[in-house]
Amino acid sequence: MARKLAAGNWKMNGSRAALDALEALADSAGGAAEVAICPPFPYIALAADRARGIAIGGQDCHAKEAGAHTGDVSAPMLADAGATLVILGHSERRQDHGETDADVAAKTQAAWAAGLRVILCLGETLEVREAGRTLDVVGAQLDGSVPEGATAENLVIAYEPIWAIGTGRVAEPAQIGEVHDALRARLADRFGAGVAGAIPLLYGGSVKAANAAEIFAVPNVDGALVGGASLKPADFAPIVAAL
Ligand code: G3H
Repeated sequence: MARKLAAGNWKMNGSRAALDALEALADSAGGAAEVAICPPFPYIALAADRARGIAIGGQDCHAKEAGAHTGDVSAPMLADAGATLVILGHSERRQDHGETDADVAAKTQAAWAAGLRVILCLGETLEVREAGRTLDVVGAQLDGSVPEGATAENLVIAYEPIWAIGTGRVAEPAQIGEVHDALRARLADRFGAGVAGAIPLLYGGSVKAANAAEIFAVPNVDGALVGGASLKPADFAPIVAAL
């Protein structure tokens, strides 16, 4: 049985003042579920100092430890700043920065080497879904993005259908369940049923307080990766409470 996790991805939002949300969120957390917030890079160290039990993560890292890579941040730097996890392979990184499955796999290895837990994202476009190729595409992303060495402690998978991100359009429970079942089975083929069963599988895409309970009731859904609704404690706390 995987541990429940509600992770907030602030994307390119937030400010020093917005970190006040961490204290409010910590006050409302404290249940069985883990809670994580992934702010932009400049706020990670500040957030880690104020986290009070909330895990802090990055939204990307470079595959190398250091070097001439202007504008990039390495996994050891994230860990040094107080992060314990990192989101990798988000569709916005894949789309905006051309990240491939091989890139995501290399970054995952770098993150693991730095002791970070990886929230690895995958998901299909609307075109792929309408063509009936969702399971093939998502399965291939999983195979290509997850390197050998995955464990229940170092990996979280986030299924995020691209057409549901920031659109207000949520996947149907049956659609989510079909993909999560397939992901669990595919992980079991590679890493064994014990490890696969304990790797948290998150859903992401327009999760909010009003739909969280229905989504969390779907078998093989162990939590959520939340974008817009993670920015304010009043929106995120009810999602955490629904887990
Ligand atoms: O990482 C989070 C996802 O992209 C979902 O974003 O909750 O704003 O749709 P959203």
